[in-house]
Amino acid sequence: MSESVLRFHRNCIFRALILLLLTVVPNGLGVGVNWGTMATHQLPPEKVVKMLQENGFRKLKLFEAEDRILEALIGTDIEVMLAIPNSMLQVMSEDPEAAALWVDSNVTAYTYHGGVKIKYVAVGNEPFLKSYNGIYLQSTLPALRNIQQALNDAGLGSKVKATIPFNADTYNSPDSNPVPSAGDFRPDVRDLTIEILHFLSINNAPFTVNIYPFLSLYGNDYFPIDFAFFDGTYKSIKDGDLTYTNVFDANFDTLVSALTKAGYPNMKIIVGEVGWPTDGDKHANIQNAKQFNQGLLRHALSGEGTPARVGIIDIYLFSLIDENAKSIEPGSFERHWGIFEFDGKPKYELDLSGIEAQKGLIAVEGVRYMVKRWCVLNPNVKDWEGLAYSVDYACSLSDCTALEYGSSCNQLSAEGNASYAFNMYYQMNSQKSWNCDFSGMAVVTQEDPSYGSCQFPVMIDYTFSSSCSSCSSFLDLLVAGFMGFLVFLFLE
Ligand SMILES: *[C@@H]1O[C@H](CO)[C@@H](O)[C@H](O)[C@H]1NC(C)=O
Ligand SMILES: *[C@@H]1O[C@H](CO)[C@@H](O)[C@H](O)[C@H]1NC(C)=O
Repeated sequence: MSESVLRFHRNCIFRALILLLLTVVPNGLGVGVNWGTMATHQLPPEKVVKMLQENGFRKLKLFEAEDRILEALIGTDIEVMLAIPNSMLQVMSEDPEAAALWVDSNVTAYTYHGGVKIKYVAVGNEPFLKSYNGIYLQSTLPALRNIQQALNDAGLGSKVKATIPFNADTYNSPDSNPVPSAGDFRPDVRDLTIEILHFLSINNAPFTVNIYPFLSLYGNDYFPIDFAFFDGTYKSIKDGDLTYTNVFDANFDTLVSALTKAGYPNMKIIVGEVGWPTDGDKHANIQNAKQFNQGLLRHALSGEGTPARVGIIDIYLFSLIDENAKSIEPGSFERHWGIFEFDGKPKYELDLSGIEAQKGLIAVEGVRYMVKRWCVLNPNVKDWEGLAYSVDYACSLSDCTALEYGSSCNQLSAEGNASYAFNMYYQMNSQKSWNCDFSGMAVVTQEDPSYGSCQFPVMIDYTFSSSCSSCSSFLDLLVAGFMGFLVFLFLE
């Protein structure tokens, strides 16, 4: 038997074994999901956690250690990756004591028996991203060291591993030979990344990477659309003996090559973020998102692996719920990554087991909404002087990404645009009457102005928001408090 036939047989047996394991062992791996909280109105964490359990999510990634979310996770069997934001890297790198305190109050406090299953600490988020211009290069590895040391000192080192979620721009293949096997780390971060690999390796910790086929397509009109998906319809790229039909595998294997060249061919890889947005760009819609995510789940959980690495691919979908207060600097699609709407309704059917048994997603139950009313352009106003200014103002303080080119509300008329902007401002400010005025150009209506695929939402009735610094809830509280005080004086 020739070498390649042998390898083929080994591959087959290995794959068969994995399939067998998958069917007999209750799926301990499964798919994970990122839960971000940059939204003006947030569903109560207990309701979201219940939904996660009902849908069978076993793994969760959080961008901050928020007490209210960690408390809701107590007693569940959901495995958690807990992140330290980039803004804390400097302190964590300089001060082992700060790292120890962070671990104490955000990990140790929850990892008791029957508490929260924290399995990873993500140190920073894409700290070597090119557009950060190197500001986190110095602090990242020392912060990683101090956090792992603090975990070890707390007696958690064997259970909880520190890792760093990298952007896929940390590695690439040269333009002269754009195949995965030519992959290596970016020259400006190569040495530093290899030092990090060494540290991860001695701690038995994984390499974490965020991979976004959507971004390959976004802003590159020559990118072949079929190559972004998993349907095998792309004519394929040959790389020696290996064949690629999708950009996810090509990207993943570029990393495998980079790791191999650095001397860590078997390092465990976690895909910390992967997904597809549903609005805010011509390629961002429900159909594409469903096609991508379902194809991804089928592929990642099948055990077939990528051409260069057989096995189940450990993935965390990005993301759970839409976040209307995220920065749209990268693009309008940023606020539309959720597989669930802001109110916890699934946007499309998705079978999380990857076997496509036509199992749909379960919505968050018992959601409280504000009154069914909308703020629109007053049809009786004839003089539209200053309208453009009001629309810009409303949009700058709310979310008008659905109006952009290629988005779900892009077909609206100028009047429709104004109504959309006024309504978003009104809803995101919790329907306060004084937020539907705009110099008399706006009016509240009981009639749903939604039009085709363009939805005019009614906000959910939960004003609590913790991590959203631009939101007005604190100010609202102050105002409400002050009004209460006036009423009190008046009654006296
Ligand atoms: C725990 O994490 C939160 C959220 O990132 C942070 O605000 C807080 O400072 C951390 N606690 C300590 C003691 O570092
Ligand atoms: C509505 O607003 C969007 C986004 O600002 C803009 O691209 C579009 O041209 C506007 N439509 C009309 C008819 O003014």
